[in-house]
Amino acid sequence: MNDNLHQLRCFGCGELISGSDARPDFRCARCGDLFDVEYAGWSQRRGHDRPNPGALKWLWRERRSSLETLDQSGVWRFRELLPILDSFGNAVTLREGNTPLYPLIRAAKALGMDQLFAKHQGMNPTGSFKDTGMTAALSVARERGFEWVACASTGNTSAAMAAYAARAGLRSLVLIPEGKIAWGKLSQAMDYGAVTCQLKTDFDGCVRVLTEIVREAPIYLLNSVNPYRLEGQKTPAFEIAEAFDWAVPDHLIVPGGNLANSSALGKGFRELHELGLVARVPRVSVIQAEGANPLVRSFSSSKGATMEPVEAHTRATAIRIGNPASWRKAARVIQDTGGWCLDVTETEIAIAKAELGAEGLGCEPASAVTLAGLKKLRADGSVAAGETVVLLLTGHTLKDADYTIDFHRGTLLKDQEIAGHEAEVNALRRNAVAVDATPAAVLAALKGSVG
Ligand code: F0G
Repeated sequence: MNDNLHQLRCFGCGELISGSDARPDFRCARCGDLFDVEYAGWSQRRGHDRPNPGALKWLWRERRSSLETLDQSGVWRFRELLPILDSFGNAVTLREGNTPLYPLIRAAKALGMDQLFAKHQGMNPTGSFKDTGMTAALSVARERGFEWVACASTGNTSAAMAAYAARAGLRSLVLIPEGKIAWGKLSQAMDYGAVTCQLKTDFDGCVRVLTEIVREAPIYLLNSVNPYRLEGQKTPAFEIAEAFDWAVPDHLIVPGGNLANSSALGKGFRELHELGLVARVPRVSVIQAEGANPLVRSFSSSKGATMEPVEAHTRATAIRIGNPASWRKAARVIQDTGGWCLDVTETEIAIAKAELGAEGLGCEPASAVTLAGLKKLRADGSVAAGETVVLLLTGHTLKDADYTIDFHRGTLLKDQEIAGHEAEVNALRRNAVAVDATPAAVLAALKGSVG
């Protein structure tokens, strides 16, 4: 048994409930808003009873060389800050987290910066940041005795859920918008044994259907309205702080879809600050695709106070979301940390993705919005040359190979989208060429590419 002290607090009206009293759709019975996990014990504890920052930092680092399964997870390594289980023995882990923080040399040079990094969450077991949240929430599902779990998804959540459910011996149900998710992600849900339903609607429509299903059937909802997901997804904030020896970077830039990840990372940094592990928090900025930008619109029309859903369109299918569930939480994080919320065009996303590829990293299109957004923030002077910036890359490049191939073949962007960007796009394109099977023909191709 561990010190499971958590409770759930409604983000809207402040209502406090115990974890076991949450409704199946994780909405507040009083006001309909979402919950956050809260650890009352932390604020009530005084003096010697409070977590000791120095001891925690030492313990977490020591665990990196431990042979214990739980210690080898980059989420459960920090388990003192996510005591959501009655027994940590119930944790379902695939050794998620502990993802690399890469310096971005070429992008930094092009932007006149020298401290630019990418935290690559695509290096998780199923290829996206969703694994860190799934290990947390699926472990709760197992501990509470559920046999079925479900999510609506643009692809990555379903891949992660299906994998963790399979590891735990649970069954999983996936609702995805037909024809609007990348094949790599769909193949994962099938491979891990999920019941996968493609619905003739968009992501927001899938969410509506699933919300009704979980109210009727004993199925545990694993969308990011589930507050335990965010407890896992806050841990990359701990890894980032640790990587900078607890002197946090100036700025963290995150893609925005359903807006849970920015909320979770903001919570992670806030808790580190409240517990005295870091002296300040970074600015957190959220970047959306221009065709799926309800939070950007919310900031320009009402400073983040109200949000109108939009019909979402973007080739970055992971963030093709028009009615994000966690928009209020994300707006608060942006405001509290002094970050920005902006959008980028399809062309800007494609160029930024190719640039990250050319650095040997690669990522899926939704992740590349971070670099595209940073370029704008540098151009308008919001981010200064001397600042330390971390881009959160959320998904692996192989998740959406079709997008990459289309870009390099020249079939991704329409002529009017390329207009004005021809030189940049052409310099980045590396199409495969069909060549005769002779050394002379290959050498000729080599010469051609150098010229
Ligand atoms: N990047 C990738 C690769 C994603 O898959 C998602 C969301 C996001 C960014 C946005 O994160 O929703 O927390 O703001 N994908 C979800 C899914 C919605 O179903 O896989 P967010």
